[in-house]
Amino acid sequence: MRILLTGGTGFVGGHVAGRLAARGHALRALTRGKDDGGVLARAGAEAVRGTLEDPASLREAVRGVEAVVHGAGLIKARRAADYHAVNAGGTERLLEACAAADPPPRRFVLVSSLAAQGPSPGGRPLREEEPCAPVSDYGRSKLAGEEIARRFAGRMEVVVVRPPAVYGPRDRETLEFFRIARAGVRARFPFGDLRLVLVHVEDLAEGIAAAAEAPGAAGGTFHLCHGETATLGGVMDLMAAALGRRGVPLRVPRTLLWGAAALQEALAAATGRIPDLSFDKVRELTAPAWTADPAAAKRVLGWEARIPLAEGIPGTARWYREAGWL
Ligand SMILES: NC(=O)c1ccc[n+]([C@@H]2O[C@H](COP(=O)([O-])OP(=O)(O)OC[C@H]3O[C@@H](n4cnc5c(N)ncnc54)[C@H](OP(=O)(O)O)[C@@H]3O)[C@@H](O)[C@H]2O)c1
Repeated sequence: MRILLTGGTGFVGGHVAGRLAARGHALRALTRGKDDGGVLARAGAEAVRGTLEDPASLREAVRGVEAVVHGAGLIKARRAADYHAVNAGGTERLLEACAAADPPPRRFVLVSSLAAQGPSPGGRPLREEEPCAPVSDYGRSKLAGEEIARRFAGRMEVVVVRPPAVYGPRDRETLEFFRIARAGVRARFPFGDLRLVLVHVEDLAEGIAAAAEAPGAAGGTFHLCHGETATLGGVMDLMAAALGRRGVPLRVPRTLLWGAAALQEALAAATGRIPDLSFDKVRELTAPAWTADPAAAKRVLGWEARIPLAEGIPGTARWYREAGWL
């Protein structure tokens, strides 16, 4: 298939580009100019300059493609409006460009997030059809993107995928947790250790490719997560072990997280930087559980995450070390 990929210069999108190319698809990639590490060039992607803010570039980018994989998104921002502008507004502009194309792409895959659905109140693995109750501005913007995408369902096959936290080579977000583990800190959460599901980026890329291809996926929403439920403390212990650290247990009460976020938010306001630990992220971190059921993805997409944490975390640590990131 001829596929337009957005977000191909990012962490998830770079892996998706490689996977789609390996599966024989002809790729076009919307870019704002860069191609770090030559990921898109290696995938043989035709680069089209454009942004989600520029409708003319989007109309050009979607011309003649059979499917769109929309992976571009804002995962960190200072204000709710910034998230909304890209994750909802940008998605809408891209869909409008698709709908105006003649013919429109047959399928549109939206890379949403488990954050759009929200945490699982009882720690039970959530199913896709259960009500959405996002707790963060990020999650609300991703949910708005989903709702917009479903409005276009009469004009093309819309498929929504919801990954949980993603980790693996080239990720800069979980890298921060690896750094804490390397510093010899074994975080302990007295308010209750967050229970969560994750997905390795290589598994996720395979799942997103399946969402673009599977005939029965049209109109569906899928949790692309590993079936294994972990705890945040347990994951950080795996990171420490992978880096050869025993670590000293450190109690991290809620107040410490909110205090650190307040400091970062204040610094961000003064410098214009985007905080790594924002109030929005603390809202997500202090939820009781981010657990989801991937059964629908297995049934409909024929996809199942294969890389367990016990393999994926040491592999990622190795990659960070070899790449000089740790
Ligand atoms: N990482 C996770 O744990 C995770 C979990 C669940 C869902 N997701 C979703 O997965 C997608 C990718 O996330 P990621 O972690 O790969 O993020 P990332 O590394 O920050 O990549 C974001 C990508 O989106 C592009 N982009 C952002 N704003 C854009 C705009 N206005 N116009 C055009 N392109 C724009 C970026 O382009 P530049 O390179 O030019 O900046 C980059 O290619 C997002 O939709 C995110 O919500 C991620």
